[in-house]
Formats: sequence, C-alpha cells, structure tokens
Amino acid sequence: MPASPIRKLVPFAEAAVKAGKHIYHLNIGQPDIETPEVALEAIHDFNDKVVEYSHSAGFESYRKGLANYYQNIGIVINYDDLIVTTGGSEALLFALNSCLDNGDEIIIPEPFYANYNGFSTSAGVTVIPISTSIDDAFSLPEISEFEKLITPKTKAILICNPANPTGYLYSKQELETLRDLVIKHDLFLIADEVYREFSYDGEVHYSVLTLEGLEQHAIVIDSTSKRYSMCGVRVGCIVSKNKEVIATSMKFAQARLSPPALGQIAGEAALKTDASYFEEVSAEYVGRRDVLVEGLNKIEGVICPKPKGAFYAIAQLPVDDAEKFAQWLLEGFDLNGETVMVAPASGFYSTPNKGTKQVRIAYVLNRESLQKAIACLDAALKVYPGRTIQ
Ligand SMILES: Cc1ncc(COP(=O)(O)O)c(C=O)c1O
Repeated sequence: MPASPIRKLVPFAEAAVKAGKHIYHLNIGQPDIETPEVALEAIHDFNDKVVEYSHSAGFESYRKGLANYYQNIGIVINYDDLIVTTGGSEALLFALNSCLDNGDEIIIPEPFYANYNGFSTSAGVTVIPISTSIDDAFSLPEISEFEKLITPKTKAILICNPANPTGYLYSKQELETLRDLVIKHDLFLIADEVYREFSYDGEVHYSVLTLEGLEQHAIVIDSTSKRYSMCGVRVGCIVSKNKEVIATSMKFAQARLSPPALGQIAGEAALKTDASYFEEVSAEYVGRRDVLVEGLNKIEGVICPKPKGAFYAIAQLPVDDAEKFAQWLLEGFDLNGETVMVAPASGFYSTPNKGTKQVRIAYVLNRESLQKAIACLDAALKVYPGRTIQ
C-alpha cells in the first residue's frame, strides 16, 4: 500500500511546530470555509435515543433528496441509481471493486489525486497513467494516446473533473471524445466530480451523467466533503444508471453495513443550502486563486497555470527536487518564524521521475495568509541550497 504523499511530511511539520514555527498549510484540501448553518443545526438538533445503522444504501429520504439535487442540475437520476457512501473515498472503492477484477487495468490522466493509487492497490487494479503536461495547462491528451494504452485488460478510464491536483476542467467536447472512446472499447468512464460546484470564470461543468449514449458506462463519484466544506461528516455517493454496477456496489455496501448516520443527517440538511452560499464560496476561491497564481508567477523561475476549477494548483519551481525543498521548508527555513507546507507533486504522478520539480498548492487559506505564504516561498526560493537558477 503506497503512503499518502500528501501526509508523509507530517512528522517534519510537527517538529517545526514544536520548534515554534507557524506553518501555512497549503498541503491538504481541508478548506477553512464554514459549513452551511443548516447542516450544523441538523447535527445540533439530533435527539434520537439510539444512533442506529441506516439502510446500506443510505436513508431513503436522503437518497430521494440527492436525486432531486441531480435533477435540479440537469442530471436525470432516480433515487435507486445511487448509494450513499462513507465519503467519495468509499464510492471510489466501490466503483473499482465493482467494475474491475484483480489484475485489470484502469487508465488515469496524471497527475491525479494520489489516493487513486491506494484505492487501486486495495482493489488489485493496475493504474496505467496517461501523462498531461504543465506546458499546456494539463489539457487532455489526444485520444490516439489513450488508444495506444488500451489492452484486453483495460476496463475503465478514471477522470477527475474539475481535477485535483491541477484544477483542470474538461470541456464538453473533451468529454464527448472520451465517451466515444469508452463506447468503442466497451469500457467504464468513472468521473470523480466531487469539486463540481467549483468551476470558475463562467465555465460550465459537464457531468458524464449528461452524455447521451453513455448511460451504461458512466459512473459518478460524489461527496459532500468539499461542496459543503464538511469533510468530517464522511458522506458521499456513487451514482450510475447501470443497474448491474449499482447492484454489485450494493453487495460491498451491505458488507460494510451502513454509511454514517449523523453524516447523512448533515448531508440531507445541507441539500437545503441556499444558492448564495455557493456564489459566495466560489467568489472567495476565485479571489484566492488569483492572488496565488499571480503571486507565484511573479517569482523568478516559477510556472503556475491558472486553474479553471477545484481549489488546487500545480506549480513548477526552480529547485533540484520539490520533495527535498518541501522538507527543507519545514526543517531548514523560516521567514520571521513562519514557513509553508506544500505537497510535492511527484506523488500525484505514477510515472517515475515525473513532477519532481512541481508542488501542489491547495488555496484553502484566506487571501492575507496566502500572500504571506507566497512571500515565504519567494524568500525561501532565493536561499534554498538546491536552487537551479542563479
Ligand atoms: C478528487 C478527490 N476525490 C475524492 C476525495 C475523497 O474525499 P471524501 O472521501 O472526503 O469525500 C478527495 C479528497 O480530497 C478528492 O480530492
């Protein structure tokens, strides 16, 4: 089982805190945005005498509420087309275990959310990466590149839209090209859409569930974690019009008995969140993104394409090795007692030696903190012993 590249620098961060440093945490996707009041109130108001298991597929009322949420955004879904899961994480596990056998292959554009490696390992599935490049802002490779990788063992393509860690948002045309490919080769298209609400600059998010002809091939991974900034409630879902996929996932769901009851209460209440919440949160993320991307690109030798969604950016740094640099930031550097924690991007690639000069930055702090974090990075890059430009 691979270690999470996002968490492996934690011991160095703990030592830095013990040494009295303040750390700007840009390394994990834990937003500081407040959870909607309606969800918090529902947790406060819980007064049953027993916290019971729920149905393995989740509360029926919640599933119906979720189906309604999808219908409101143009996705025609019935409540029995989805299973409530313990976060998007469990939905990913269900999807891989239900659609792929031991030894089967899944093609994933890299860099990708690092835990896809761990979930694939758990499911006995081999990840076949297809590289995207910072030079063209991580856009989808030519379809012929995908076709070169398809073997008799290939069962699925997994995309993240908008993407963690690149912030890339797929166009309708790109999704249609992928649709034609998966239909041609009879594959599944698994789309992790947990950042659906975070698409910026007027760009529209297209769900694979809206693509005509893809009904039997499309599987969506969803979560309340980022949408409502409530990562700790541990509630997500797997959605598919393919009855066999849902029936197989249901066997895994029954084996783990039930998704979290209190989390579902929060999730169901969160469905009532006012549209203004998302407008405010999106505006906040856009403001942060602009501060971050502008600030980083002003630093000599740094390249950071502007993300179109989610709340992450990949930056290329003028350093020998981004992992060494990230560790050194914690161990060997501070600017007036402050430093920054970033996630080395090599862990988001599955091809060896890719992304070694890149870091992933999560813009989950307010603009003032981001500005201070950028000042730290700027100062650090000027004195880092492994700096590659003089
Ligand atoms: C792309 C992506 N998918 C899935 C998850 C899993 O989130 P959760 O299990 O909290 O829903 C995350 C969490 O950061 C993520 O970034």
